[in-house]
Amino acid sequence: MYRLFPDPAIESQTAPTSHQRLVARGFDAAYDNALNLGPDAVIQSIQAIRLGGRGGAAFPTARKWLSVKNEMEAIKYVVMNADESEPGTFKDRELLLRDPLAPLTGLLIAAHTVGAEKAYVYVRGEYRDVEMRILEAIQELTATGWVGPESVSIEVRRGAGAYIAGEETALFNSIEGYRPEPRVKPPYPTAQGLFHKPTLIQNVETLANIALLFAHDVDWFRAVGTAATPGTKLVALSGHVAHPGVYEVPFGIELGALIADHQYGGGTGTSRPLKAVLMGGAAGTFLTPMEAMQARLDYVDLAKFGASVGSGAVMLFDYGTDLGRVLTGLARFFADESCGQCVPCRIGTKRILEVLEGQRLWERRADLEDLARAMTDASICGLGQTAANALVSAMNRPSLWEEPAAI
Ligand SMILES: Cc1cc2nc3c(=O)[nH]c(=O)nc-3n(C[C@H](O)[C@H](O)[C@H](O)COP(=O)(O)O)c2cc1C
Ligand code: SF4
Repeated sequence: MYRLFPDPAIESQTAPTSHQRLVARGFDAAYDNALNLGPDAVIQSIQAIRLGGRGGAAFPTARKWLSVKNEMEAIKYVVMNADESEPGTFKDRELLLRDPLAPLTGLLIAAHTVGAEKAYVYVRGEYRDVEMRILEAIQELTATGWVGPESVSIEVRRGAGAYIAGEETALFNSIEGYRPEPRVKPPYPTAQGLFHKPTLIQNVETLANIALLFAHDVDWFRAVGTAATPGTKLVALSGHVAHPGVYEVPFGIELGALIADHQYGGGTGTSRPLKAVLMGGAAGTFLTPMEAMQARLDYVDLAKFGASVGSGAVMLFDYGTDLGRVLTGLARFFADESCGQCVPCRIGTKRILEVLEGQRLWERRADLEDLARAMTDASICGLGQTAANALVSAMNRPSLWEEPAAI
């Protein structure tokens, strides 16, 4: 499926940052359409396609745009979050390399809609090639007259290697020159965000969907996906998978198809069968192969299994996998990346790691569950609140720990 990703014909004939590409993809028309419609109609269209944020939490996009638009402050900001530092998540990188004009068009439409004259792109520090692509695309948009002092200016900021800097308020602190520590919410970014001004922050993929919506229309957008979640999702397949990579798929696709079909994952790619699927990234939920075969890529459907689409990371593990080691690796990641600002997360992530490194998971199961509850209930931000998700989901699925009947 080619919507967010350009059709191969366009891709092969036009450079990703060229004016020709802007026209071929319909983004020049999208920009004009959105500006002609005006802020209220733009937000109504976003509401009509039920666009949820693609950065992980699926928060209704229209609601954020309306809140920022309605703020009476003279200075407002829009931010593209391209920090993308969670293990297994690499879809924004692919999107920005292949078509940076899509999210940048969405970012400019956002600025005009909410009344911001300045936009920021916060890009993961290790993504130097992506940053170059973004800068080239901004040059093209400057030549087009969309970017500049008379319109909207865009500044690109590079992250410095901290996963926590992707959390929206930590990201604001990072841009402001402070340590990337999350702020207590409320106040929410829509009221007091970057430099304590009303701020709209969106994921790269969310903004690319905005460009597509106004390059076409609501009916076109809703023609794929489900009624509850129209459109497509970028999915990053990794781990034991024959064809790892980023795929654009309609919401509602069966996870089984995504994992096994040859046009997508093509199975484990090893001689061993599938043992587990980590759905939604490092802070996601482990599913058994049976659950994965029953589930669809859809928020409501995955919720039945206690899982979520998250940022679209799907990691596969075959029967050669030592699940305890995988969980220890995840625990080490969260313990390393915790900013240390609040106790439940600072101490909780370390305690979980100690238990797992000491191979005492089953002996200390009740303690781990207590820790997970405290972290979920009392941590300041999403990192601490979700750091134990994968562990708890794995402990609750005894079949993940069994050897297969026959390999
Ligand atoms: C620890 C942590 C890391 C995050 N990293 C990212 C990220 O790299 N990219 C992103 O878009 N959102 C990330 N988020 C979510 C952002 O805080 C925010 O919700 C998102 O950028 C909003 O955009 P969306 O509504 O378009 O998804 C992260 C959240 C947490 C708690
Ligand atoms: S939950 Fe963790 S990462 Fe988030 S503020 Fe607290 S210590 Fe920092």
